[in-house]
Amino acid sequence: MTELTEIKKQDLLYQGKAKEMYTTNDPDILWVHYMDQVTALNGKKKVQMKDKGKTNCAISARLFTELREQGIVNHFIEQLSPTDQLVQKVTIIPLETVVRNYASGSFVKRYQTEYLQKFDQPVIEFFYKSDELDDPFLNDDDALALGVATREQMAQIRQLALKVNRLLSQIFAKMNVLLVDFKLEFGLSTAGDVILADELSPDNCRLVDLDTKQSLDKDVFRKGLGQMVPVYEEILQRLQKEEER
Ligand SMILES: Nc1ncnc2c1ncn2[C@@H]1O[C@H](COP(=O)(O)OP(=O)(O)OP(=O)(O)O)[C@@H](O)[C@H]1O
Ligand SMILES: [Mg+2]
Repeated sequence: MTELTEIKKQDLLYQGKAKEMYTTNDPDILWVHYMDQVTALNGKKKVQMKDKGKTNCAISARLFTELREQGIVNHFIEQLSPTDQLVQKVTIIPLETVVRNYASGSFVKRYQTEYLQKFDQPVIEFFYKSDELDDPFLNDDDALALGVATREQMAQIRQLALKVNRLLSQIFAKMNVLLVDFKLEFGLSTAGDVILADELSPDNCRLVDLDTKQSLDKDVFRKGLGQMVPVYEEILQRLQKEEER
């Protein structure tokens, strides 16, 4: 492996909606740049917000580090600058794994349940990562039929998602924040292991203040509830405060 200090950014591999992924001089390492862009409705609503990239980069780095310490193997290597980090390159499994503790978002829309209704046990949902198809809902058998993952990988993903849920729920509870739901992406390492990848930030989690029930996540933008970046900064500050304890 190349010494981390010798890692150089090379070509833009993928221009996403929230991040730019670059190759580096190490074939197993990607350079991630967190952008100030915010999108919703699969890119239909798009704006620039100053400091959004660095806030999410910092939150993600902290949560990945915390999860690693608690035994969750993940792609995070190190933070390079306020907006950039190095990650292990994986082959992304084209699934969005959603874990829900309380009803919100598309669950409420689909089943007409009450917002923030508590589930007796976490609900795991899968969506097929496909922009053309608009990320449709799919179940384990669909994923097998489409060749997206094996039966064993699906079982592993479920197990990992539940463990991440327990750990993140604890972390946020200490910050007086309810983890309503969140989305994970997993990938395969060159060795074939399932590894947690992508991003852990208020872009991908629904977070609600335990006292005020105020949204502290991208719903602020989706629903036009006010300034989004200060809310993300609030999450980062609460994380930093917990770290200092
Ligand atoms: N460790 C990794 N190795 C390879 N690809 C990764 C890794 N972590 C995340 N990715 C992928 O890099 C991209 C990150 O960019 P971004 O989150 O901006 O994408 P996006 O606009 O949400 O698009 P997508 O629909 O592809 O997720 C995603 O496609 C994600 O799946
Ligand atoms: Mg994304």
